[in-house]
Amino acid sequence: MNESAIPPITYDPAGVLIRETGLSAADLAWLGPRLEAARNEVLDDLALWHSGEPVPKEKQPLDAGFIDLPERLLDQYRAKGDQSELGRILATGNRLAGQVDRVVVLGIGGSYMGARALFEALCHPYHNELPRTHRSMRPRIYFAGNNADNDAAVGLMELLACQSQERWGIIVISKSGSTLETAVALRVFLDHLAQSCGGNVDKVHELVIPITGVKSRLRSLATAMGCTEIFPIPEGVGGRFSILSAVGLLPAAVLGIDVVKLLEGAALTNKRFCNSSSGQNPVLDYVGVCRLMETRRGATTRVLSTWGDRMEAVGLWYDQLLAESLGKNGQGALPLTVVNTRDLHSRGQQHQEGRRDKLITNLVVEKTRHAPIEIKPSTMNQDLLNELAGKTLPDVLRAALAGTNRAYADDRRPTADLRLPRLDEWSLGQLFQMLMLATAVEGRLVGTNPYGQPGVEAYKTHMNEYLRAK
Ligand code: PA5
Repeated sequence: MNESAIPPITYDPAGVLIRETGLSAADLAWLGPRLEAARNEVLDDLALWHSGEPVPKEKQPLDAGFIDLPERLLDQYRAKGDQSELGRILATGNRLAGQVDRVVVLGIGGSYMGARALFEALCHPYHNELPRTHRSMRPRIYFAGNNADNDAAVGLMELLACQSQERWGIIVISKSGSTLETAVALRVFLDHLAQSCGGNVDKVHELVIPITGVKSRLRSLATAMGCTEIFPIPEGVGGRFSILSAVGLLPAAVLGIDVVKLLEGAALTNKRFCNSSSGQNPVLDYVGVCRLMETRRGATTRVLSTWGDRMEAVGLWYDQLLAESLGKNGQGALPLTVVNTRDLHSRGQQHQEGRRDKLITNLVVEKTRHAPIEIKPSTMNQDLLNELAGKTLPDVLRAALAGTNRAYADDRRPTADLRLPRLDEWSLGQLFQMLMLATAVEGRLVGTNPYGQPGVEAYKTHMNEYLRAK
């Protein structure tokens, strides 16, 4: 099906603008000019970043380079094909997929969450358990270097070692190149890889693909090692805004995910963001509703309620994006991802009757990838399910969503729906870009620099002091 025939993702705050929450479309309209001014500031930031002019102190760091990254990558790919950055990502992804059966992705924070979100949302839910032929000949994937958990690392190395006839490789992602968890994991897994390659150094260097900043210790190490391919994390693209750079795209390409469609989806969001006014602009409307609920109704917890099993990691990616970008100066809403209907049986009670500090945004996929499973009539009707015969699992999920929204509305608890026509690259590309833009817009709206994460440095400093103390 041609992408232009598939409707774009939508944002519908109908469950917020109900009379009972005390907010109306008029409130959103009131905020409109401010939202548009914040959007213009975000776009001015991009122009400033491109100009190379000095960045005023209050805007530093300025990582606006993520905004038009999708268009830049696509344009270069169309002009230069295999010689472009995207062409190289695709070629290396395919090469690695052909050479190895397992890939270990090392990285933390923004250098980890995006690849995991793409993997969990777009690959087969049991990808790693399937035989290679059922994985379109793509490798299994594991994530490490996002903690300092000894036994987890040993467990993964045991797993890699027990399939000694299978080759494995490493994608190591770190913009600074100095993040200790990732750097330590690289050293440990490199040693293990060298053993599994029987000490063949050339082979090792072919099987390790670093993705790193322009100036970083990891780049120096990779260059010294003679790694055949090193991918850049461009200057001006911060870690948690880097999913649509090699950081997310290379692991995705290894897995056979259609990275061009991801970028095309993101480019569509950019178009809507730049050209539509508030009221018809999903990015601005989403920010507007979040702000109004926070400032007027005390909704300081933003629940991203994902429906179905496969978007939890998308939610965790967003948790990090929002928390690290806007959790500054004593401000910033608390992001919380839930998976429904699973978490209706854990957090649901609190969301229905607990403190009134939550805005619930449902993340819903309209159409399943596979034909719906039907409930069949049975001669054993002790479970009384025969009256549901003919209904499908998607019918059950839809009823659960509608029932939950209604239960919340009956108790004046606000909900909004973010709808994806399908869980595919095109919709997800739109969603990732929408949430990154929304975060940047909200930062500018409230006067918080959305880029940089000065607060994360404190623990790193102290950790290093403890480790290096004689
Ligand atoms: O958003 C960010 O910049 C951070 O979450 C980083 O991605 C994270 O700290 C990892 O940093 P690095 O890529 O330098 O190892």
